Amino acid sequence: GHGLVIAVDGTSGSGKSSTSRGVAERLGLRYLDTGAMFRAMTWWLLCEGVDVRDAGAVAAVADRPAIESGTDPRDPTITVDGVDVSVEIRSDEVTSAVSPVSVVPEVRARLLGLQRDVIGDGGIVVEGRDIGSVVWPQAEVKVYLSADPDARAQRRAAEQGATDLASTQQSLLERDRIDSGRATAPLTMAEGAVHVDSTHLTLAEVIDQIVALAPGTR
Ligand code: C5P
Repeated sequence: GHGLVIAVDGTSGSGKSSTSRGVAERLGLRYLDTGAMFRAMTWWLLCEGVDVRDAGAVAAVADRPAIESGTDPRDPTITVDGVDVSVEIRSDEVTSAVSPVSVVPEVRARLLGLQRDVIGDGGIVVEGRDIGSVVWPQAEVKVYLSADPDARAQRRAAEQGATDLASTQQSLLERDRIDSGRATAPLTMAEGAVHVDSTHLTLAEVIDQIVALAPGTR
């Protein structure tokens, strides 16, 4: 049968991951973090010593690493060539290199195929930047999640125990700029997406709003 697909797109630090995992748990769905796949690709490129600012060099090897995503919202894992890199992909080094890597069309094409394979027959919440627009435009529920830059920087800094709010915000905005400006599958509000601004909402409130959009819960 054909299961429900909920697409959650939005800017960096808008709360996509906590929200998407919460929605998947509430509805008994699987969960896919596509950002983790771009991070895994970036981690592998850095390990291989590939210059991530050289799009040609990145494109030439984009089909090499085997990237596998777990889909349990309670324990999302990601492996590269069989090695669990769930922790490594959150490093500052990966975070600052991931947006330039995600611009490269060969990287996007490779990961698009993997993402569609995981989505398969549905029954899944998928988070990213281009899920409702490119990866799965036929998703029954599409959400565009946003929050004010100050709120996003505060949340991200709290998560990471960082103290420099200004530089945290700077790095979020720099990723937004690259992610929104690229030619292939830029971050955008997909046609048919419901815009949820989480600035003044708790996590539980955002989860409730999205759960309420799912068929059968209205
Ligand atoms: O969601 P997260 O912040 O972990 O994503 C990391 C990066 O991966 C984003 O800044 C973006 O460059 C890229 N990405 C993307 N398309 C997606 C998901 C993530 O380009 N669907």
